[in-house]
Amino acid sequence: MAERPVLITGGAGFIGSNLVDALLARGYAVRVLDNLSTGKRSNLPDDSRLELIVGDVADAACVRQALQGCRAVVHLAAVASVQASVDDPLGTHQSNLIGTLNVCEAMRAEGVRRVLFASSAAVYGNNGEGEAIDEDTPKAPLTPYAADKLASEHYLDFYRRQHGLEPVVFRFFNIFGPRQDPSSPYSGVISIFTERAQKGLPIVVFGDGEQTRDFVYVGDLVEVLVQALESPEAVEGAVNVGLSRATSLNQLLEAIGEVLGGLPAVTYQASRPGDIRHSRANNTRLLQRYRLPEPPTGMREGLARLLGL
Ligand code: NAD
Ligand code: UD1
Repeated sequence: MAERPVLITGGAGFIGSNLVDALLARGYAVRVLDNLSTGKRSNLPDDSRLELIVGDVADAACVRQALQGCRAVVHLAAVASVQASVDDPLGTHQSNLIGTLNVCEAMRAEGVRRVLFASSAAVYGNNGEGEAIDEDTPKAPLTPYAADKLASEHYLDFYRRQHGLEPVVFRFFNIFGPRQDPSSPYSGVISIFTERAQKGLPIVVFGDGEQTRDFVYVGDLVEVLVQALESPEAVEGAVNVGLSRATSLNQLLEAIGEVLGGLPAVTYQASRPGDIRHSRANNTRLLQRYRLPEPPTGMREGLARLLGL
């Protein structure tokens, strides 16, 4: 019998396609379910052990079909932009919460138990202000995006208690690296800044640039995801994925300038509504349960890899 695949929803996107590469390299068969809204076919390699289903996680029948015969799921499909959820709460909800429910229901029906879920540091809102945020920090979802991620966590926990699912919930901080699509104003800040810097186009900072993020190189995250798939147990309780390092946007620009040997003009505009001021993980639980590369990929090294330097 052919080996049962791992289903990666959102597998044609930034994080998903990096995970696809890592799983194929380890000999897994992989099935991707993606509506190609931000993901791209060209992010995926040509490999006989990889199958792409173009479809929507908001479509229950499609999810059920995609899950048939799978050994586990990595549920990454979502509108990843916080700002997009502010602009279109109902539209993003279809992907970000209904999609999760459809995955849970399909797993229950198909008897698939292990699911890794991409939750977000956004669930903490501004509650971690100035401190490293641990997983027990009170939640304060400020945007539809954060509300859907937190609700998804609760649904996954319900399916764990009621139906024996084995969810492993990760709260990713800010992930960056190759294939993060820079083409929309909703894209991740590092992909936008590096692309504009390379093309010599002006860069816009929303706010004073002193807001901070805990940036994680995608390759380091993927190492953790593979370990969680292979672990015999799905330990309860969400896990922050951050390096516990705060980088301000102004420091980020300095690093990009150093790596590229210069920067274009930078202008400052009003902050985005719902934008979080400071976000830095307490990653004690991550380090207890998983191995990060030692040392983890630093900002300048990650930027150089992203820029192919
Ligand atoms: P991405 O936009 O590159 O990937 C999302 C993928 O999901 C895309 O391929 C897109 O086409 C697909 N998709 C979106 N809606 C879909 C739908 N309704 N049905 C099927 N496919 C759909 O973004 P990413 O950065 O790779 O994010 C992956 C996951 O990680 C998302 O759930 C995101 O919320 C989460 N996350 C990302 C970060 C980060 O810093 N990048 C941080 C925290 C959480
Ligand atoms: C990011 C992720 C989100 C994730 C969260 C976890 C993306 C698109 N968003 O949200 O999925 O859940 O981390 O912490 O991957 N900015 C500018 N100029 C720009 C673009 C952005 O100044 O051109 C600013 C933003 O206002 C914000 C910061 O950069 O202050 C980071 O923005 P962004 O990359 O969109 O990430 P988050 O909102 O932190």
